[in-house]
Amino acid sequence: MIFRQLFDSVSGTYTYLIASRHGGEALILDPVLEKVERYLQLVRELDLRLVKAVDTHLHADHITGLGALRDRTQCITVMGEQSKADVVSMRVADGERLTIDGVALDVMYTPGHTDDSYSYLLGDRVFTGDTLLIRGTGRTDFQNGDARMQYESIFNRLLKLPDETLVYPAHDYKGDTVSTIGEERAFNPRLQVTSIDEYAALMRSLKLPNPKMMDVAVPANMKVGLAQDEIARRGLAVSASEAIGLVGRSDVAFIDLRESAEREKHGVIPGALHAPYPNLRANIAPGGAISALAAAPHRRLLFYCAFGERSAMAVQAAQDARLTTACHVQGGIDAWKKAGGPLDRPAPR
Ligand SMILES: [Fe+2]
Repeated sequence: MIFRQLFDSVSGTYTYLIASRHGGEALILDPVLEKVERYLQLVRELDLRLVKAVDTHLHADHITGLGALRDRTQCITVMGEQSKADVVSMRVADGERLTIDGVALDVMYTPGHTDDSYSYLLGDRVFTGDTLLIRGTGRTDFQNGDARMQYESIFNRLLKLPDETLVYPAHDYKGDTVSTIGEERAFNPRLQVTSIDEYAALMRSLKLPNPKMMDVAVPANMKVGLAQDEIARRGLAVSASEAIGLVGRSDVAFIDLRESAEREKHGVIPGALHAPYPNLRANIAPGGAISALAAAPHRRLLFYCAFGERSAMAVQAAQDARLTTACHVQGGIDAWKKAGGPLDRPAPR
């Protein structure tokens, strides 16, 4: 496995780059906007293809690199299902798996620092975001933080992992880089409490000043900007209610870009072709499945995904590949459901 821990000294943020092999797909966790060029350089040097960029939660102390990485690499941007950030193109939930080629992370909902805080378990290591820090825990006094929820997340989820599990947090301000679950249980001063009430009282007593960047970072991270806005301006978007009227027509090919787990959870548009977004480049190249579909005269390609972001990037890529009938369903399956569109169960894998 390829594993890199990168550091932004301004915000004290750790960013993690993960891949199974050189030449393969890569995922980045908690990227910082100012460091995006560094990440992309490393991705090139290690001969990787960045396919997913993930934030453990909405950050208040730095601006996320998710938007810039999406714009530079057309990667999928990922947060938990509670996330209100516009940039997110795929939302995950507790108990699901977040995968790239050769790597699968177990998704753990660990609220408390914020109500959208997640941890990700990768075999012998866990990425704890700001839920569990080295000899500390993330503050719980803003962004819908809740000390009692954090206690549950730490004591009933993270500390149940094997003692030797490596702990990789999103921040450190003292120079520590990694710890273990056993070490934190024994030596983390915030965890030496005997009850949830004692933990809540401890967190209440902290009286921390707000992060310097908070007033800038939170709104910036909520509204990074959507890929689909530009596609709509160019007249290449179809609203969900318009798209419902196109189901079953032979001159329209619906193309589902989501992953199998998302299809199973939310259902599929009847008659749609499944062509996962990470394989888009091969599928729109001459001889690819989508390119073949587009060859029929007058047939429109209608991409869709979860929220309309992956499909907007697919429209751009298809138009660049001269598939000029490509457009997409604005707002994705999320908008489709709200418009009352029909959904099938996907065929078994
Ligand atoms: Fe945070």
